[in-house]
Amino acid sequence: MRKLIVGNWKMNGTSRDLPEIAAIAAAARRHASVDSALCLPATLMDRARQTVGDFAIGGQDCHISDAGAHTGCVSAAMLSDAGAVLAIIGHSERRAAQHEQDSDVRAKAKAARAAGLKVIICIGETLEQREMGEALKVVLGQLQMSLPDAVTGDWLSVAYEPVWAIGTGRVAEVSDVLDMHGAIRAALADRFGDEGFKVRILYGGSMNGDNAVQLLTVPNVDGGLIGGASLTAAKFEPILSAAAALSK
Ligand code: PGA
Repeated sequence: MRKLIVGNWKMNGTSRDLPEIAAIAAAARRHASVDSALCLPATLMDRARQTVGDFAIGGQDCHISDAGAHTGCVSAAMLSDAGAVLAIIGHSERRAAQHEQDSDVRAKAKAARAAGLKVIICIGETLEQREMGEALKVVLGQLQMSLPDAVTGDWLSVAYEPVWAIGTGRVAEVSDVLDMHGAIRAALADRFGDEGFKVRILYGGSMNGDNAVQLLTVPNVDGGLIGGASLTAAKFEPILSAAAALSK
């Protein structure tokens, strides 16, 4: 399976950053054996689209409806219209701050798929849940409740992102990543049969150029979802390069 490396710019980026986005797209072209994308603020998408050529850009959330009386929201159809080809759904920051439930995540993933977007569904436990020995139960529970009914082809990815590893510089132990990704793969296979093996499982949480090779070599780690280290080409390219080396 080709590795998928996706940057998540979160609430960062204005028109001043368009040259950096172009530099990231150029870096991605140098590592063509890897699938890559950058998920941007919706406000930048259209202008970014015009500078990145065929490099994939995506959104970070969408509404479940195509249009309507939902002040401040952005629909999947709008993301697609602005040039997005994928969307992150159910990021832990949205689950925490916007109180998104698994049922919302599932509905949003369905809406994004209906608009023709690829989807990355995020799941992950908090530190408290891990310390109570509940990480596996929590993550597999989120997975089951957030997944769509059916999957065919490779439009869906799942990102395992331990909440305590996001933006903290703390990375999950390789043995924990191995266990969690193995359990997620088993659950996907159980639910979707052969199609469950086509779903890429990404790791997210303080991935960077120094730890990417170690994380991306773990079985069932099919790529990464990267926050802080995706904000510049200088930090993002070493991750692309690590994934490319493993793709040879
Ligand atoms: P981080 O963010 O790489 O800055 O830890 C990852 C994410 O939130 O997807």
